[in-house]
Parts: sequence; C-alpha cells; structure tokens
Amino acid sequence: MAKYLGETLISKDEIASICESLGRRITHDYFGRSVFLIGVLKGAFIFMADLARNIDLPVDMDFISVSSYAGGTQSTGVVRIIKDVEQNIAGKHVIVVEDIVDSGLTLNHLKQLLSTRSPASIALCTAFDKPERRRVAIDVEYVGRRIPDEFIVGYGLDYNGIYRNLPDVRILRDNAEE
Ligand code: IMP
Ligand code: MG
Repeated sequence: MAKYLGETLISKDEIASICESLGRRITHDYFGRSVFLIGVLKGAFIFMADLARNIDLPVDMDFISVSSYAGGTQSTGVVRIIKDVEQNIAGKHVIVVEDIVDSGLTLNHLKQLLSTRSPASIALCTAFDKPERRRVAIDVEYVGRRIPDEFIVGYGLDYNGIYRNLPDVRILRDNAEE
C-alpha cells in the first residue's frame, strides 16, 4: 500500500530538549566514570551524535548493526548481527543507544549478547519507545519519549531506507486512511 508523510509528531526543538535531558541524566548517573556508547545502526546514528554531545563525561563509542526487519513495518522477530562492535567492552560502562524500541526483541537480544562480554555495567537508552507493541519485557533505563502505536520516520528512522534525514519525527500513513 502506498505511504505518505503524515503530521509531525515530535519537532526538532522537542528532540533537542529530549537529548539535553537524557544527556543530563546520564552525566549525573555516571558521574566520575566514563561511558561507552554503542549505537545501533543505522537508525541511531543521528540520535547518538546528539546524545553524545549532551553527555559531560569522557565518552567512547562504537556501533553495532543488526537486522530485525525484512523491509516493511512489522518485526519478523529475527535479530541478526551484521556488524559487530570492534572494541573490547570488558570492564566498561556500556550504554546501548537505539532509535526506537518496538517489540523489544532487538534490545533484549543485544543486551544478552553484550552482557556475555563482561562489561562493568550495561544500560539501554532509546530516543523513542512504543510500549504498546512490546513482545518481551525489558527495562530501558533511558527513554527520550513514549509514543503511541504509529510508524514514525525521520531523525534517523526510516521506511525502506528513506526519510532518515528528516529533522522532525513524522507519522507515516497509508493512502487508504485518507
Ligand atoms: P524491535 O526489535 O521490535 O524493538 O525493533 C526496533 C527496531 O525496529 C528499531 O531499531 C527500528 O529500526 C525499527 N522500528 C520500530 N518501529 C519503527 C518505526 O516506527 N519507524 C521506523 N523504524 C522502526
Ligand atoms: Mg534500529
């Protein structure tokens, strides 16, 4: 079904204040330590850049790439590592940075996988969260903003590879809804 860009759900100004407040919380919670951010590609790359610049601590970072969607708007439940973290995370305070938590399968899997590598601690941070769609119970320590069950694009989030560059978060709608 054809899709079109619907209304703005979260403006770039609101996104900026979300990043400031998450950065402030992380700076406070990890005071006196350094953090190791692991961004989940590709969706998290823009959020990671904004979040990192709002954390007032020594920040190291790396990226991981996983695939859980065959190209569409429904999770297949299959999480596959496409590019692993390159650095050793043993003894580090890891924060996994995601664009959005939907079913929770991706972050749940990543947390289990990274936990086996002996980090000093591991926390999860997401820009957006769709709690209504959760299929596994996971604790996400840092949530930028909860959203209703809508498919969103922009600010790193894509639909079939496009719209990541939109500065605001928009709702993707089906033409039939009109
Ligand atoms: P989960 O494993 O179902 O929690 O899936 C999370 C991943 O699905 C995110 O990292 C996104 O890449 C993708 N995703 C989930 N919801 C949306 C959305 O509304 N827009 C774009 N991508 C989404
Ligand atoms: Mg993603």
